[in-house]
Amino acid sequence: MQVINIGVLGLGTVGSGVVRILRDHQNKISSITGRKLVIKTVVVHDLAKKRNVDLAGINVTDKIDDLINDKDIQIVVEVMGTVTTAKEYIERLLNAGKHIITANKDLIATYGSELAELAGKNNCDLFYEASVAGGIPILRTIVNSFAADRIVEVKGIVNGTTNYIMTQMSQNHVEYQKALQSAQELGFAEPDPTNDVEGIDAAYKMIILTRFAFGMNVTLDDIEVEGISNVDLEDIKQAKELGYNVKLVGIAKLINDRIKVSVGPVLIPEDQPLAAVQNENNAVLVTGAAVGETMFYGPGAGELPTANSVLSDIIAVTKDIVLGTTGSRFNDFSREGKQALATE
Ligand code: NDP
Ligand code: HSE
Repeated sequence: MQVINIGVLGLGTVGSGVVRILRDHQNKISSITGRKLVIKTVVVHDLAKKRNVDLAGINVTDKIDDLINDKDIQIVVEVMGTVTTAKEYIERLLNAGKHIITANKDLIATYGSELAELAGKNNCDLFYEASVAGGIPILRTIVNSFAADRIVEVKGIVNGTTNYIMTQMSQNHVEYQKALQSAQELGFAEPDPTNDVEGIDAAYKMIILTRFAFGMNVTLDDIEVEGISNVDLEDIKQAKELGYNVKLVGIAKLINDRIKVSVGPVLIPEDQPLAAVQNENNAVLVTGAAVGETMFYGPGAGELPTANSVLSDIIAVTKDIVLGTTGSRFNDFSREGKQALATE
């Protein structure tokens, strides 16, 4: 069977999961794609760090050029985070003809269109299913299953860390700082959790969802963003006594043919589906003019759920390589009749 060599940039929570799933499900993936997918090289920051995943047969390096200059590597998975460095590395990798998969919402929300254009010029695929709602396959679902509908609203819980924190505060009366520390230890939070707790991470995801649902590029400046750092145990307790759960919710919706996007803490009646979303789970409600309201639920963060989304992208790229249809980018998808931004 022909081999497709893969490079992985980053071996933290998500990178370790990618190595693990590819090893464990090698045969199944080969039978689907007709190719043997092999992780050849992994790039890390600290070569001395002890890893808790089997790296037998994998070249571990701290040099990005080991990926860029290796002509045998066709696909690179970027799961290291950051914006500036990741952008520079991905640009160099695309120019070297590598197909890119990333889980980096900060990067895609900020430079997704630019990178998609570069991917197109180099006839490379660029996919990022894991960048929104971790293990929920929401981006491909919007692309494939809402293609004939007109989406009027996308709403949901799209940050696992804050939902985990507020669940722990509400159900187990854990203090905010302790719950945050636990989210960090479980691998849900960003290395610097400021973007999680201040709503920025959710806003990045809403930027990507807005692009997919409405074909419109909004920026952080266009979004009203409030995080959960001012929500305390007493607020959550009082809300609960009144029959509500506090959730960090992102909303992108059409109002009089204009789009409004916001992220902030919302009181949700306990009998509503979003109120029941607990811990690091996420849920995205997509409302189409034809289909009505639909809801997609699952783990929004964590090693294996996120890695599973990365693997779905790896399989999509492999199929494109086999069929000779590379150059696919999610950003190719753009709805007719782009809406204007509601600025009020
Ligand atoms: P981690 O912090 O756990 O891992 C980051 C990895 O990148 C580490 O292995 C680190 O190396 C490596 N790294 C960092 N900087 C460099 C560099 N300059 N050169 C080479 N390697 C580098 O992050 P996560 O796995 O949690 O997240 C990775 C990406 O996935 C981020 O963009 C994140 O937003 C996204 N994501 C994360 C999810 C999650 O649940 N954790 C879910 C969805 C998306 P070393 O180990 O040597 O320090
Ligand atoms: N820090 C992010 C979260 C990871 O908690 O949702 C998944 O994107």
